[in-house]
Amino acid sequence: MAKQLILGNWKMNKSLSDITSFCGSFKSVLKDKKNDAIINKVIVGIAPTFTGLTHFKNHIDHRIHLIAQNVSDQISGARTGQISVDMLNDLRVDYCLIGHSEVRQYLHETNHDINKKNNLLLSKNIIPVLCIGETLDEFEQHKTQAVLQKQLNECLADVDFSKIDKVVIAYEPIWAIGTGKTATNEIIKDCMKSIKQYLSHLFASKSSHIKLLYGGSVNEINAKDILAIEGVDGVLVGGASLDPQKFWTIIQSAK
Ligand code: PGA
Repeated sequence: MAKQLILGNWKMNKSLSDITSFCGSFKSVLKDKKNDAIINKVIVGIAPTFTGLTHFKNHIDHRIHLIAQNVSDQISGARTGQISVDMLNDLRVDYCLIGHSEVRQYLHETNHDINKKNNLLLSKNIIPVLCIGETLDEFEQHKTQAVLQKQLNECLADVDFSKIDKVVIAYEPIWAIGTGKTATNEIIKDCMKSIKQYLSHLFASKSSHIKLLYGGSVNEINAKDILAIEGVDGVLVGGASLDPQKFWTIIQSAK
């Protein structure tokens, strides 16, 4: 069975000293040889802020992957405040979140921008973690499938077909992010199934290796149930990934 992905998104949290202490607690858990079997059966990654990436990489156990929270859609040049894909490669970033609903909402990122980021990341061998999801309004109006399909269509336009199986998709219903309201197992299962079907419509059998994550109020209590749902290849965890103990419990919940 393929390894499940347990990814943490720290958003705009943690100073360098907070990162040091998180990494310290995590290291002491992983020093215990009996935990090797647990960490080796999953793929774990964390997305600190840009300013914390190097510090995190220098202090965390080498088995934890480095994730960036965003990237510019341009290679270089006059983009004050932006970070390029080559800069992420300099820091040996493995994954990069794109299309997170907070970036869409507060930085007005569009599917078109996300598409450029996706294709740029793939061309430079960083794995995009493409976040998609519907608002509460869209959910209540039964528009979830249409919204997800449009996001997939537009964000994955002109993708390099030979690399499509590298992309990770995180389904994060916006109404479940940071609200303590998780989608029901039924909703998650149905959405995973329809996302899979749509990806196979777009990319045929090549889509079968694309990993699908669920995100939105995943915590140390509900993780086991969520990770057991058919079609869930992992989770993207916000708030609960800030606490090393809670995040470790979530890692232990993987299949
Ligand atoms: P949450 O955030 O787990 O705090 O709901 C998830 C995310 O934003 O990726």
